[in-house]
Amino acid sequence: MNDRTDEFGGSAKNRSRFCRMVIDQVRAAIGPHVPISLRLSVDELVAGGNTIEDCLEYLEYLQDEVDLFDTSAGLNPTIQYQIDANYLEDGWRAYMAKAVRDRFHKPTIAIGNIRDPQVAEDILARGDADFIGLGRGLIADPEWCNKIKYGRTQQLRKCISCNVGCVGNRIGGNKPLRCTINPDLIYGEAYKNTRCPLPVTWW
Ligand SMILES: Cc1cc2nc3c(=O)[nH]c(=O)nc-3n(C[C@H](O)[C@H](O)[C@H](O)COP(=O)(O)O)c2cc1C
Ligand code: SF4
Repeated sequence: MNDRTDEFGGSAKNRSRFCRMVIDQVRAAIGPHVPISLRLSVDELVAGGNTIEDCLEYLEYLQDEVDLFDTSAGLNPTIQYQIDANYLEDGWRAYMAKAVRDRFHKPTIAIGNIRDPQVAEDILARGDADFIGLGRGLIADPEWCNKIKYGRTQQLRKCISCNVGCVGNRIGGNKPLRCTINPDLIYGEAYKNTRCPLPVTWW
């Protein structure tokens, strides 16, 4: 999508220039002791878009001031990979995190449909990533981490990757975030104290 012919287009160095300028300004503002995390689509999975190799080349021009890589995927035309569709396997794109981690040897986050805690464990054990990112998993169950920590894995309310409550409301409808399987994102289980009167004749 970048058709520029000036210093912001063409070569990987030029295409990374804008991001480089942002990182330099951020570093100048926060000083040397605060880590900078960079999130980037490692593979845009679009015909003509950036591949993993393109991304790794691009990151060569940015990586020196980056402390943590957060690995996204896709673009808007491939939104099914960016906010992972339900048919994609748990942790399917951890290989993208691995590619970045192997190249730059810096802490890296894997994310994307990591619903099963065993898959999270396997990604870390294989060395594909240093951190696990959870987006919708924490919308569906804010106690995801605590339940695993305290051995209550069977009580996990796992995200079903439907993208109806969260993406549909927040991005699609510009409305407050909701979740198909979490009745109340704000007040937890307080909803249980409010009884809904049954209609007298509901049939
Ligand atoms: C409602 C919603 C909004 C999102 N907004 C952004 C965003 O602004 N920037 C971004 O990089 N990713 C965004 N994402 C993608 C998530 O950060 C994450 O990469 C994606 O949901 C896959 O991880 P998950 O399966 O753990 O949710 C959004 C996801 C959702 C559900
Ligand atoms: S609405 Fe809830 S279950 Fe559906 S994708 Fe979003 S977080 Fe997951």
